[in-house]
Amino acid sequence: MNEELEQAQTLLRAARSIVAVTGAGISAESGVPTFRGSKGLWKSYQPEELATPEAFARDPLTVWEWYGWRRGLIATCSPNSGHRALARLALSHPEVTIITQNVDGLHVRAAQEEAADIDPSPALPIELHGSIDRDRCSACDARQPGSQEIDITSIDTLPRCDRCSGLMRPDVVWFGEALDEMVLDRAFTLAHSADLCFVVGTSALVHPAASVPLATLHNGGKLIEINIQETALTPYASATLAAPAGSVLTTLLSGYDNSA
Ligand code: OAD
Repeated sequence: MNEELEQAQTLLRAARSIVAVTGAGISAESGVPTFRGSKGLWKSYQPEELATPEAFARDPLTVWEWYGWRRGLIATCSPNSGHRALARLALSHPEVTIITQNVDGLHVRAAQEEAADIDPSPALPIELHGSIDRDRCSACDARQPGSQEIDITSIDTLPRCDRCSGLMRPDVVWFGEALDEMVLDRAFTLAHSADLCFVVGTSALVHPAASVPLATLHNGGKLIEINIQETALTPYASATLAAPAGSVLTTLLSGYDNSA
């Protein structure tokens, strides 16, 4: 680990533009459940019953019950030292962008907390899979802030669009849905031009998000993987830091901040 850490620090010092591609593992230390693995959400729940447009069309009450539960759970969680270390890095270095698959909003909260007097915070992430804190109209696509209390008594009590009264849904990307093209383009363009990509706490199984680090790699850039387990990207990483993201990012990036 020490050798890998030194290698990561060397890569970091040499890098001019950086992307950090994060997944559920970065929020695990905040208490947000991951999706895969022995305690992952997909062990207890079926994605096809909860996270597809077909499931929502068939049974919006069950889908909203699950998202209401997750929204409530996430509201009790706070950004951890990993979110904060990345936010500080992005604040102090304009050539750093956080790209996340997470819908939990913890990178956004860390960015706002670390830059309390700057609005919008320059450390805001690119959110590839949307945000659980927002609703989107299933009829007209209008977005509005998500309410914490979801009344699942009947279809008539579910959140409705202020503009057209259509049924609102969580503003997240479900299985079988395309990612926002502009958001995805921006992520790939930045990853392509980056000379270093951190891949943090993702199983790297869900595409196209899992392909974003490959854009850095294919253009001659390097990967640093931070994950408690190996993934399909591990063989391509120039440094692998196999420990919880919060402590690793704090150690790695505090050194970088001092030398910058
Ligand atoms: P996963 O649950 O698939 O993977 C989480 C990863 O985090 C695993 O590789 C773990 O080893 C790692 N991990 C867990 N705790 C960690 C810690 N403390 N520090 C570092 N690493 C840790 O989550 P994602 O890869 O984000 O999509 O999943 C990708 C997508 O699949 C999600 O965005 C979601 C999901 O289904 C949709 O809902 C569309």
